[in-house]
Amino acid sequence: MRNVKLLFFAVVATVMDAPLAEGDPLEGLKKAETCLGCHAVTGYFNVYPSYKVPKIGGQSAGYIVSALKAYKAGTRLHGTMQANAFNLSEEDMQDIASYLSSVK
Ligand code: HEC
Repeated sequence: MRNVKLLFFAVVATVMDAPLAEGDPLEGLKKAETCLGCHAVTGYFNVYPSYKVPKIGGQSAGYIVSALKAYKAGTRLHGTMQANAFNLSEEDMQDIASYLSSVK
């Protein structure tokens, strides 16, 4: 019974924490370096081989985080992006999203 109570409080604490979790844009800039190789901010073309990639600079942070989570979880399928999202922690995603959403 005691463990159940503790678990309950842990869950509540996590849920209440979530909306407050905001990324650090400066950390995000460092972590987004590889991303920008493809999601380059001008023109949104990958350098080589040249193909069009979606615009992510200036997107809302919430949208970016949920897209990254979907790739990582495998609910959104794309080989390249799944490979890129695979190693990202929740904090990495928040930081990157906070940086990208600040790009105009
Ligand atoms: C090798 C090229 C490449 C790299 C590196 C890359 N991406 Fe992508 N990214 C793509 C492509 C191509 C798509 C479109 C995939 C699709 O249609 O689902 C995409 C899609 C996305 C989307 C969804 C955009 C939308 O409009 O729904 C997000 C968010 C994203 N990438 C973020 C990132 C982040 C953050 C990183 C770095 C951790 C990263 N990408 C690294 C090529 C890349």
